[in-house]
Amino acid sequence: MRPRWLRASSVSARHDPVLVRETLAFLRPGKGLFLDATLGDGGHSEALLLASPELRLLASDRDLDAHAFARQRLARFGDRVMFTHGTFRDLAAAHAAAGGELLRGALFDYGLSSRQIDDPARGISYRHDGPLDQRMDASRGETLAERLATAEEDEVANVLREYGDVRAARPLARAIVAAARAGQLSTTGQLATLATRVLRDDRPGALAPVFQALRMWVNDEMADLEAGLAWLPGAMADGGVVVTLAYHSGEDRRVKQALRGNPRPVSRRLPPSADETASGPWEELTRKVVVASQEEQDTNPRARSARLRAFRRKPR
Ligand SMILES: C[S@@+](CC[C@H](N)C(=O)[O-])C[C@H]1O[C@@H](n2cnc3c(N)ncnc32)[C@H](O)[C@@H]1O
Repeated sequence: MRPRWLRASSVSARHDPVLVRETLAFLRPGKGLFLDATLGDGGHSEALLLASPELRLLASDRDLDAHAFARQRLARFGDRVMFTHGTFRDLAAAHAAAGGELLRGALFDYGLSSRQIDDPARGISYRHDGPLDQRMDASRGETLAERLATAEEDEVANVLREYGDVRAARPLARAIVAAARAGQLSTTGQLATLATRVLRDDRPGALAPVFQALRMWVNDEMADLEAGLAWLPGAMADGGVVVTLAYHSGEDRRVKQALRGNPRPVSRRLPPSADETASGPWEELTRKVVVASQEEQDTNPRARSARLRAFRRKPR
């Protein structure tokens, strides 16, 4: 059964940045060095650079196509922008190579850009038929098809459960591994068809968590997110602010764990005391998560699932 809504191709769409006004309100653009760790199409970067002529930006992304687009968009800002290609794990080296000046602010706008999702050649979306690739950085690492061809059923089942809350994770993992080993899983359409059959659900929504989980695995997204936020306190000036934009609960949970300080209570039976939760390097500016206005959600569907958090570096 081939899902009826699967499209053969599509035109890649420009990415509309999410919660820009709110992001700027927390970051307070001004003199000094800021980091955009997820450059994408450069929408947030452009807004930061326009907001203050004294602001300089370290702009990073693991996707070379994003760089190609954003470099053109931001060309008019000249040497105020320093571009760097890599994942969050490469930020320490990139920041040092850029001079190592302490950051006044940093933005992590997680996940994918519309351009990546809508390009069938990237093999990311279940809505377009394309090669089963899913890498955000097409210049390195294994494609999803390559990874699956040698994966164990247990690992795939864990990935589906852990990153996607996929029901029937075990039978689906078994079917995926068998098809991959038989050389029958090289396109997103084949994966969509197989998952639709095993899950006995041909609504597109049923496939979203499957594709999301496998994408997070092939890009090692959660370990990368944690590595970036673990590096950040040492690179951030006192009073500097980090803004994070997460698009699903697993991402948001890890952001909170990484930035909220010591999450382990002294006693397992009692909740953590104020001292324990306040022991980390960050002061939380968004006790309640910030979400997009109804108007923004109506005009930009990506904004519907966005959760913004902001934390300020405490004085050393
Ligand atoms: C939501 S888009 C960013 C959009 C951007 N804020 C804009 O205004 O156009 C996320 C971008 O982050 C990049 N990205 C995601 N995870 C990354 C990681 N671990 N390391 C480096 N870049 C990452 C993706 O390649 C993608 O281009």
